[in-house]
Amino acid sequence: MCGIVGYIGSKNSAEVIYNGLEKLEYRGYDSAGIAVISKNEILTRRSVGKLKNLKANLETNPISGNNGIGHTRWATHGKPCEENAHPHTDCSGKIVVVHNGIIENYVSIKKQLISEGHIFKSETDTEVIAHLIEKYYKKDVLEAVKSALKEVRGAYALAVICADEPERLIVARYDAPLVVAKGKDENYIASDVSALLNYARDFIFLENGDICEIKKDSIKIFNGGKEVKRETQKILWNAVQAEKAGYKHFMLKEIYEQPQTILDTFRGRLSSEQNTVLLDGINITKDYLKEISKIYIIACGTSYHAGLTAKFVLESLTVIPTEVDIASEFRYRDHVINEKTLVIFISQSGETADTLAALRLAKQRGSKTLAICNVVGSSISREADNVLYTHCGPEIGVASTKAFTGQLTVLYLIALDFATKLDTISKDKLETLVKYLWDLPVKVTECLKQADAIKKIAKEFHAKKQFIYLARNLNYPIALEGALKLKEISYIYAEGYAAGEMKHGPIALIDETMPVMVIATKSKIYEKVLSNIEEAKARGAKIIAIVNADDKEIAKKADYRIEVPETDEIFSPVINVIPLQLFAYYVSTMRGCDVDQPRNLAKSVTVE
Ligand code: F6R
Repeated sequence: MCGIVGYIGSKNSAEVIYNGLEKLEYRGYDSAGIAVISKNEILTRRSVGKLKNLKANLETNPISGNNGIGHTRWATHGKPCEENAHPHTDCSGKIVVVHNGIIENYVSIKKQLISEGHIFKSETDTEVIAHLIEKYYKKDVLEAVKSALKEVRGAYALAVICADEPERLIVARYDAPLVVAKGKDENYIASDVSALLNYARDFIFLENGDICEIKKDSIKIFNGGKEVKRETQKILWNAVQAEKAGYKHFMLKEIYEQPQTILDTFRGRLSSEQNTVLLDGINITKDYLKEISKIYIIACGTSYHAGLTAKFVLESLTVIPTEVDIASEFRYRDHVINEKTLVIFISQSGETADTLAALRLAKQRGSKTLAICNVVGSSISREADNVLYTHCGPEIGVASTKAFTGQLTVLYLIALDFATKLDTISKDKLETLVKYLWDLPVKVTECLKQADAIKKIAKEFHAKKQFIYLARNLNYPIALEGALKLKEISYIYAEGYAAGEMKHGPIALIDETMPVMVIATKSKIYEKVLSNIEEAKARGAKIIAIVNADDKEIAKKADYRIEVPETDEIFSPVINVIPLQLFAYYVSTMRGCDVDQPRNLAKSVTVE
């Protein structure tokens, strides 16, 4: 989730861009850079680390020009370093590009361009765009961008300048946000309005497929080969509202980002043409998988819940025995892992001290390690033998939401990849499951439409002192996750149980003061969950049930229903967690708690 800013007019663009980038730093900041056109020459400054490093660089080596582009980077392809920092150039150094998003087919494009003589300087997917534009450039940068983008698959918000055409700034958007702001004899572009509120209030929100030519006094938008008109909107948000894209809290913004972050995590890994999974970049072969005796998953907190869910999926699809452990427990017991164990570490931050220590232990035992992280270049991602990133962008709310569904997404891809390699899944089943996976972002969007209904239920229950969450099978970890979300942000005591365990003790807790949240979507043990609801109801509990939309049975039994769309049972955890995140969020706000920074918690737990 990088940030982009651009300017064309009569001011010094470097200054305007730097000020804009400061407002976008919340989107990620492992490096930053600015390029401007000065006397038909491109001048670029790039620095690793926080934006203040770029500021120091600009103070020592100032640049100025009336047309420029800038970028703060949140690494997806290639480690955080100066070579990988944007802007990126073509071979001639005359065409410069900043990009937010992921180019899915960059490997094949890069191979082709290298064979045609292009020389690459970075590990990024973005650099292929600069070289592709160079390939098609015939003294018209707009036409060259249009031709280049015909070859590109993936997501992009793109800004391009060309030294030989200083009066033009070209931008394009597909599945990544980009706005154009209008000034008087000057125009601006940015990833979001927050970057530009000090300069402009009139915004055009570009749509997918838009390619736009911006001059200081004109804006022309093209889509599908034709010029199109887009409405201008006046934005009156203040700076804080803008940073959260108008949402009241980062947590709510991040909950709503999930359809996009799941899609971004698929990118380049899920083929819609062949309905297959392509996990390039990890060295886990068919022969290796045939040799191993078990998979061991290690993580903490919400990431541990993703691991618990994955156990069900991995065992069902690959038949490899899978154990899951809390990192702080794993460290201090006698565990049986060796070179025949694949150990998977899950961590949003990639810095959690216990998970990192467990990773080092596993490596000492000779196990192959695979990390699932959200932060590129983090300690866990660097030290593991293999890494798969969730492409969720920075998660700022302390309570993890989009990183969790991103982790589940990667774990599904791993399970399908391993099952394909081991031949434990038929071609038909693989195709069916991949189709269901592709549908997940739309189904998550449908769940989000339940927000008002969930808010009403939260109003009824926000003053309660305790809560029980029940589910079975692969939704049992989702009951744990729902309870964790509620306790960490609303400080209500909440416990998740496997519903079948109720009668072995916890049922003693149930009376009319104990609300029970039950996940009761369609599954092979749906009937059993119904019986568990009866047991709780008979003891006076108020029941809130998460159900599929057409479920008539539960209507008779539950006091409140939250409807979610149906999917294959294996993917239901991704759907079912969404209402639980929203419920915790609304309860927390109604209790006046600090949603984004709950008491006693830190986003990254770097101490034991
Ligand atoms: C809960 C939450 C924590 C983290 C845990 C592990 O909402 O965010 O439980 O999941 O501290 O952190 P990572 O995933 O960064 O290792």
